[in-house]
Amino acid sequence: MRHWWEDAVFYQIYPRSFADSNGDGIGDLAGISCKLGYLESLGVDAIWLSPFFKSPMNDFGYDVSDYRDVDPMFGTLDDFKELVFEAGGRGIRIVLDLVANHSSDEHPWFVEARSSKDSPKHGWYLWAPDTGRPPNNWKAIFELGTAWHPNPATVERYLGTFTKHQPEFDWREPELREAIYDIMRYWYGLGVDGFRLDVATGYIKDSELRSNPFSFKANPDFFQRHIYDRNRPEVHEVFKEMRKVADAAGERVLIGETHGQDPLLAASCHGEHADELHMAFNFEFLYKNWGARAFRDSAERWYSSLPEGAWPNFTLSNHDQPRHAWRYRAGGAKSASLSEARARIAAAMLLTLRGTPFLYYGEELGMTCERLPRTALRDPLGIATWPLPSLGRDPERTPMQWDASANAGFSSATPWLPVNSDYRVRNVALQDKDPASLLSWYRSLISLRRSMPALREGSIAFLDFDPDILAFERKAPTSNGRTEEMIVVVLNFASGRRAIELEKAARVLLGSVRKEDSALAAGRIELGPCEAIVASVE
Ligand code: NOJ
Ligand code: CA
Repeated sequence: MRHWWEDAVFYQIYPRSFADSNGDGIGDLAGISCKLGYLESLGVDAIWLSPFFKSPMNDFGYDVSDYRDVDPMFGTLDDFKELVFEAGGRGIRIVLDLVANHSSDEHPWFVEARSSKDSPKHGWYLWAPDTGRPPNNWKAIFELGTAWHPNPATVERYLGTFTKHQPEFDWREPELREAIYDIMRYWYGLGVDGFRLDVATGYIKDSELRSNPFSFKANPDFFQRHIYDRNRPEVHEVFKEMRKVADAAGERVLIGETHGQDPLLAASCHGEHADELHMAFNFEFLYKNWGARAFRDSAERWYSSLPEGAWPNFTLSNHDQPRHAWRYRAGGAKSASLSEARARIAAAMLLTLRGTPFLYYGEELGMTCERLPRTALRDPLGIATWPLPSLGRDPERTPMQWDASANAGFSSATPWLPVNSDYRVRNVALQDKDPASLLSWYRSLISLRRSMPALREGSIAFLDFDPDILAFERKAPTSNGRTEEMIVVVLNFASGRRAIELEKAARVLLGSVRKEDSALAAGRIELGPCEAIVASVE
């Protein structure tokens, strides 16, 4: 049976930065509700909302102090219900971010847990006796210091591998597990269609608290191979349980964030019998350099590492890594037009590969990253690593660029992060009316994907042309079952012309240069710099 999320295009919203409805400079739920028409016109099927729960905002919501309520900064529970209702009316599903590796240090559970070793909640968190030294080398990666934070009341240290404000749960504790599953059921009851699971592979830690070995990788590993503080084999048991909770509630998707770039690790989270997470993020594209071969190798490796029955997914940008329009910007004389052309190639790849695409708000406009002055930084990681470039996450979290008015139409007040300087020339209002804009390109790709089963669920076979060309065929039976719909995608990653040999004649469905419906005769076809073609094979 096919599930809705296999056919869906997801759109991630970072609520602080999408739309501010009440003029305090911070995006909110009512702001998102106001923009549903835009999301509908873009054609996305589901929104994944980064956390909006009650939080002291030490990690901007990834530190939750009440899992069942909305932080007043983002509105009220009624605003959330309204959003679910309005989105549902437009056929848009809502997926929440479940931050269940850790809570905030202000969560009542932790306040109780840290007060005494005899507290019933003490065992819900992870502790080590305080001998004056941390028990191992695990790091609080946003603070660059030890992950073991003193708790004088119990003469212990608690674990927090992000900041000291994010104490980590002991998922070996059955009561804690049940408490989290209850939270899931609560939101299912309010109509959410699934969860993105924050640091899902971090739930279980090594029972002997062994030190991690050294790694040469700085980002995102912070020079450690995370084999003991995350990625323990026992986590699969938890995933199986969570899957039962999700399945019992109907068609509710579980999408896991795995820590690190290893696609094999992500693949393993689907379970040997595809009985764990429905999807685990494949983050490889976030770290790939621009190049057809690199993306092809990555996609092929990902497909071959997934267990039978598991469904692939792809992401180019999210709230933790520099935006891809910035990563793939071109240098040289024609840098602006080439960068724009690359953004089209990247979008065409993401939206025509076999697997669920995850978009990040603003990528459809080609929003990029800018270096922020130190005084503008808000992200604890950015502050701790300043002035190192591109480790802090504020540049990818700047306000959505709606129009050319003050604050890019995001807010009537000064936004919590500065708006990118290009907002007057790069915004929804301008691109909306321009059929040649990147936004229109995204719309066309999404609508094509919607209308063509071959693009959504068809098989994929890569074609060997020039090494700078990423090309593949997607095939699916047509509704009568007797014939096949076949689509060929050809993407020229090079800044110069390249040629291919088409085996069969085709007709352009969507082209970055060629017109829709133009014929492609079998034989040699010349592609312009960074040209993209999606064509139906005749
Ligand atoms: C991963 C999230 O994507 C990131 O934004 C957050 O800071 C950490 N997990 C901690 O929750
Ligand atoms: Ca607001």
